[in-house]
Amino acid sequence: MADKKKTDEVSGVETTGHSWDGIEELNNPLPRWWLWTLYMTIIWGIGYTIAYPAWPMVSGATQGLLGWSTRANVVRSIEEHEALNAGLVSQLVAVDMDALSDDTDLLRYAVARGSSVFKANCSQCHGSGAAGAKGYPNLLDNDWLWGGSLSEIAYSVRHGIRNDTDTDARFSQMPAFGEILEDADIDALVEQVLALSGQDHDQAAAARGAVLFEENCAACHGETGTGDRAQGAPNLADEIWLYGADRETLKTTISMARFGVMPAWGQRLNEPDIRAVAAFVHGLGGGENPAGLDPN
Ligand code: HEC
Ligand code: HEC
Repeated sequence: MADKKKTDEVSGVETTGHSWDGIEELNNPLPRWWLWTLYMTIIWGIGYTIAYPAWPMVSGATQGLLGWSTRANVVRSIEEHEALNAGLVSQLVAVDMDALSDDTDLLRYAVARGSSVFKANCSQCHGSGAAGAKGYPNLLDNDWLWGGSLSEIAYSVRHGIRNDTDTDARFSQMPAFGEILEDADIDALVEQVLALSGQDHDQAAAARGAVLFEENCAACHGETGTGDRAQGAPNLADEIWLYGADRETLKTTISMARFGVMPAWGQRLNEPDIRAVAAFVHGLGGGENPAGLDPN
């Protein structure tokens, strides 16, 4: 390493004095264009941090002179969108739910809107594809606990189920039979439920269970176990289970009972969103026509 600056003989340019294995570094000035670009980016950077939100502060960040915010932009574009659809929105709010399927354009708008409402509010419990999970009903099939017409679905969504925030919430309560019946009786009832749903079962126990079922369960689940929507009592005679159909799960359900709770969305979503998400759920595949109306 040489420590004294000198001039390179070949190029006539001053060297920096650094030398590696005899190779010396020329002290060429930085190219003008490069230097000016650097200065401009610095000026632009300072200007940017003044104009836009930038520096982190104790609470939040500097706001910037332009008052720009992604959140405000989203709010604005939602408002613009709502304004564009104002006609459809007011029709949706006014329409008789069960007649919604007759208006193709309105229905298309409702289902599209409902799809995004569903993703944001419902998928965490009912699954992103609405196929449900243990305790959270599948909304794709036509097996309904409380009802599958547009107005019935809208009611379930608006008021919720067994919540304590809406006095109009759908409500029913299965007793915990573990506190009422003997263990052997519960085992017999398990066999009877297996029998009702066409699964392998112990015939003798199921025969005893049938009598117990008649006395204790038929009032809600029906004589043949086909359920009662007025009470949200599931059909026990099909292959669709909310909690499960293995012996162990059935025994837990009958001994401890279940109490599925759904929030009242009328307290969280606006009217067009409630109607839209009901239309979306109705359109998933299991939607029914209003009670008593022939589809044709
Ligand atoms: C916190 C969990 C949770 C969220 C979030 C939720 N649900 Fe539910 N939902 C439930 C549960 C639990 C039930 C079943 C209640 C029962 O056992 O009767 C249910 C039942 C339903 C039913 C009745 C199904 C039938 O068979 O009759 C509909 C319809 C429904 N949900 C739609 C929705 C929609 C639409 C949303 C979003 C706006 C939503 N749910 C959000 C938990 C949830
Ligand atoms: C007061 C009405 C009522 C009575 C009486 C009743 N149940 Fe239920 N049962 C319900 C309701 C409501 C549910 C759904 C609970 C939920 O959605 O969280 C249910 C759920 C069930 C389930 C779960 C079904 C599934 O899909 O996972 C089984 C099994 C069941 N009941 C069996 C019985 C048996 C057996 C008896 C009689 C010993 C009985 N129930 C008596 C109302 C009743």
